[in-house]
Amino acid sequence: MNDLPEQIYRELIPTDLPALLDLDAIVQAELKERKHQYFIKQYLSEYKAKELEHLFDRKRHIILGAFHNNSLNGTLRLTVNQDELGKFHKILGTDHKLGYLGHGMVRSEYRGNDIMTRLVARAMDEAGTEECASLVTLVRPDNKPGLGVATKLWFDYIKQIQVAKRPAFVFSKEL
Ligand SMILES: CC(C)(COP(=O)(O)OP(=O)(O)OC[C@H]1O[C@@H](n2cnc3c(N)ncnc32)[C@H](O)[C@@H]1OP(=O)(O)O)[C@@H](O)C(=O)NCCC(=O)NCCS
Repeated sequence: MNDLPEQIYRELIPTDLPALLDLDAIVQAELKERKHQYFIKQYLSEYKAKELEHLFDRKRHIILGAFHNNSLNGTLRLTVNQDELGKFHKILGTDHKLGYLGHGMVRSEYRGNDIMTRLVARAMDEAGTEECASLVTLVRPDNKPGLGVATKLWFDYIKQIQVAKRPAFVFSKEL
């Protein structure tokens, strides 16, 4: 663990979008080999302007961030818009309200310092407040840090599915 400056954790607001896209671009460039990874830029281009408008709408997404000196060092999106989560309702065989965790990323020089652990803990609190019965997330089988986070936080492995023609593990956690 590095000698890490204390991070401030808070929800992102629309004026944080440039910082969010910067972090997204840095992590995407670093993970060039993961062409299939679903980054925020692709997410926004798929949904176009409509989704940009909705990205910071709490009824749909709650985007959390870890900051130090106004620099965004980690982020995690909690989606609570059930219209986007039909696939997961089917997989889990439930019609309970779900929260989906996506776009989790931490600046490389800050990794291994519990930033994602804390972001997930906050997302769990938010999901509880939003009356979600459980959380669901996807991790690629070759993503060791991603699998490590899911395991450390006691998410249950549900099943393997195909996403963008590649395998992904579905993990879930009851709240
Ligand atoms: C995955 C990622 C978000 C983890 O962020 P992080 O802040 O470093 O994670 P944490 O410090 O909270 O680590 C939590 C646990 O994950 C596991 N973990 C973290 N990094 C790991 C690594 N490089 N290898 C194996 N396990 C790892 C450990 O179990 C760790 O707990 P421990 O430190 O008590 O052993 C970060 O590596 C990242 O941004 N990766 C690139 C983007 C990505 O792959 N996102 C995830 C998509 S599912």
